Amino acid sequence: MNTAQTYNYDVVRKFAVMSVVWGIVGMLVGVIIAFLLVFPDMLEGIPYFSFGRLRPLHTNAVIFAFGGSALFATSYYIVQRTCHTPLFAPKLAAFTFWGWQLVIVLAAVTLPLGLTSSKEYAELEWPIDILITLVWVAYAVVFFGTLVKRKVKHIYVANWFFGAYIITIAMLHIVNNLEIPITWTKSYSIYSGVQDAMIQWWYGHNAVGFFLTAAFLGMMYYFIPKQVGRPVYSYRLSVVHFWALVFTYIWAGPHHLMYTALPDWTQSLGMILSLILLAPSWGGMINGIMTLSGAWEKLRDDPILKFLVVSVSFYGMSTFEGPMMAIKTVNALSHYTDWTVGHVHSGALGWVGMVSMGSLYYLIPRLFNTKIYSMKLIEWHFWTATIGVVLYITSMWISGIMQGLMWRAVNSDGTLTYSFVESVQAMHPFYFVRGVGGAVFLGGMLLMAYNIVKTIAQGKAYNAPVLAPAH
Ligand code: HEM
Ligand code: HEM
Repeated sequence: MNTAQTYNYDVVRKFAVMSVVWGIVGMLVGVIIAFLLVFPDMLEGIPYFSFGRLRPLHTNAVIFAFGGSALFATSYYIVQRTCHTPLFAPKLAAFTFWGWQLVIVLAAVTLPLGLTSSKEYAELEWPIDILITLVWVAYAVVFFGTLVKRKVKHIYVANWFFGAYIITIAMLHIVNNLEIPITWTKSYSIYSGVQDAMIQWWYGHNAVGFFLTAAFLGMMYYFIPKQVGRPVYSYRLSVVHFWALVFTYIWAGPHHLMYTALPDWTQSLGMILSLILLAPSWGGMINGIMTLSGAWEKLRDDPILKFLVVSVSFYGMSTFEGPMMAIKTVNALSHYTDWTVGHVHSGALGWVGMVSMGSLYYLIPRLFNTKIYSMKLIEWHFWTATIGVVLYITSMWISGIMQGLMWRAVNSDGTLTYSFVESVQAMHPFYFVRGVGGAVFLGGMLLMAYNIVKTIAQGKAYNAPVLAPAH
């Protein structure tokens, strides 16, 4: 063993801390837009803060700034630890940090200015798209370079999930953002009509599948076993889970385009592959949760484990709900309603949010060679997060199903029972409850920030020595 060698925690530390910062910013914008739907004239007269401009700011901030930073941090940590070698190309790794932060700042400036390519989750204009591509290629070089110089033969399953996410996101980003620039701040997609819609939702759905799912499963497969102190329940199942998931996800995009001009067979194919997707998703969920078998009692007083395990339960819930919503007749009711928004946030807050929080609580003290400042505060955070998600998703279920039913209700003479504005009025109280749920969830993030600041203050930046592989 080379005792002088240490892991590169520097870039991991930076991304981990920024993930908490961007989490607060992104969720704050989420709370603002939630209340804008309750009090529509709250920010009237300020175009930069109109709902249409803040909404993409929210989605970009939470997905790419909060989620993305958490993924960079954890993938860089996991790949080094499981390969028993420091990161390949540390300067390039530092470039991914500064490049990614620049992308986020540019997004925060351009989106409120109304500069957008108008593709959901791919709104950023072409110069920023090019910067993202450069950062992503550097990310791939660092990640796969580290895998290549690994000191163990085996590639741990978490790295398979991260690897698939890095490759697939590169492909999706480039293909969906092929556009013709008109000026520095305006471009037009090279696709048009239904092809444009299909490419966009092939991208959009797989951004969910690979960014918001596969990569976070990488987190699950590392941090749950670590926190429980037991190996993954079934390693064989984790490999089957990986291949089944990556194969199936890529086909399911058309479930976003039911009853559109997309050919009917394509919609049916999307529906069937979405239903099949339930199996690998639940295989993974069961594998994550069953890793606790024989150690269930740890759940009683370990709030970090609570975060991790409850996140996997939300993963199971949203991957049951998703396939149901992909059934054409169910989608006829759910599409365009708040049910979709509820589904999104049971995945986004319950799964992505909570698995990141659990992982960051595990990670950050180790990056500063100390213990967490307060376990009690994590317990508080866990309960605020759980109550926040439950308020959010239950209010959206009720509001969404009510909307769907009101829109399709007809009188015996064939006229509509309700006008559209009546359905808007009926949603009002549920929007308020959602806003409160979001604010409670955000409150938990503030507790986290305080706990992390205190933890960092009592520790010192630390790079652990590289461990020799076990024989
Ligand atoms: C405090 C927490 C949050 C609040 C209050 C919040 C609120 C909102 C609101 C009000 C919308 C717009 C819904 C509409 O157009 O009707 C929205 C959309 C969205 N949010 Fe959040 N959000 C939060 C956290 C998150 C997180 C952590 C993520 C992802 C990791 C996320 C991902 C999204 C996505 C993907 C959409 C678009 C949904 C769609 O198009 O159907 N949100 N959010
Ligand atoms: C088996 C897994 C899943 C399936 C089959 C699935 C299926 C669906 C369906 C049918 C819709 C509604 C499309 C529409 O009517 O417009 C949807 C929307 C969405 N789902 Fe899922 N879902 C799954 C898991 C997840 C997870 C785990 C997350 C988040 C982490 C997620 C995030 C989203 C988002 C962001 C949208 C809204 C897209 C938009 O319209 O902007 N899904 N999903």
